[in-house]
Amino acid sequence: MARLSIPRPAPRIIENVELPFVLPHSRYDVEQLDVIIGKKGQGKTTGQEHYIETREPRLLVVTPRPDFQRVELADDLDDALNDLSFGEPCRRRVVVNRRTCGGFETMHEYGQYLFGRCCDELRNALLVLSEVHLLAAPAPNPPSPELVDLISQGRHYGVRMMVDSQHPRFLQSIFFLEMTHLVAFKVTDEKDLDVVESYAGAETAQTVAQLDKGKCAVVTL
Ligand SMILES: Nc1ncnc2c1ncn2[C@@H]1O[C@H](COP(=O)(O)OP(=O)(O)OP(=O)(O)O)[C@@H](O)[C@H]1O
Ligand SMILES: [Mg+2]
Repeated sequence: MARLSIPRPAPRIIENVELPFVLPHSRYDVEQLDVIIGKKGQGKTTGQEHYIETREPRLLVVTPRPDFQRVELADDLDDALNDLSFGEPCRRRVVVNRRTCGGFETMHEYGQYLFGRCCDELRNALLVLSEVHLLAAPAPNPPSPELVDLISQGRHYGVRMMVDSQHPRFLQSIFFLEMTHLVAFKVTDEKDLDVVESYAGAETAQTVAQLDKGKCAVVTL
C-alpha cells in the first residue's frame, strides 16, 4: 500500500550567520524548540553564537566542550541557575566534562538531573543543549520523564530550547515531534538522512545532503 504523502514545508536555505533574522527571539510566551543538526564542523555553533549574542538576553548553555566561549562560564548548574533566578538579562554557560559527568555516573544521569532542575527553576530563558544526545539517552531509548516534563511543561514557564547534535539518528523522537524549527547543516550518513526525511520530508533530506559548509536548511513546522 502506498504511504500517505504528507505535504511538508519547503526548506529555506540561509547562511548560518543569518539565523538571528530567521528564528524568533526574546519572546518567552512563544513556544520554541529548535533542533540543529549537521556533521562535524559545518557551522552549527557559529550560527547559534550569532543568534544568542544578538537576540537572547537570558540564556543557559550546557555543553560538553569548551565552546560558546563568549558566554560567561558558571562554576556549575547551581551557580548558573542562581544567577538566572533574578530575572535580569543574564547569560551563563555550564561545561560538563564527559569523563566526570558533573559528579554523576553517566552523562544521561546528569541529563536527567539537569532537565528536572531546569523544569523546576529556569524561567523565561533560552536553554541551549549542545550534543544533546549525550544528555538524553539516545534513540531508541524512551525519553526520561524529566525530559518529557521539560519539553511539555517548560514552555508554560517561558523555557525555550535550542538543541544541537552531529547525529540526528541518535536523537530521541520527542525532539523531532515537538520541534518548531529544524536547522539542518550538511548531513551525509544514510541513517541520519533517513531521520531528516521522516520528519522534514524528502526535499529537505536531498537538500541537506548537498549543502556547503556554513549553509543550513531551515524548516519551520
Ligand atoms: N558561514 C561560514 N563560512 C565559512 N566558515 C564557517 C562558517 N561558519 C562557520 N565556519 C567555520 O567552520 C568551522 C566550524 O564551525 P563550527 O564550530 O560552528 O561548526 P560545528 O558544526 O559547530 O562543529 P562541531 O560539530 O565540531 O561542533 C569554524 O572554523 C568556523 O569558523
Ligand atoms: Mg559545534
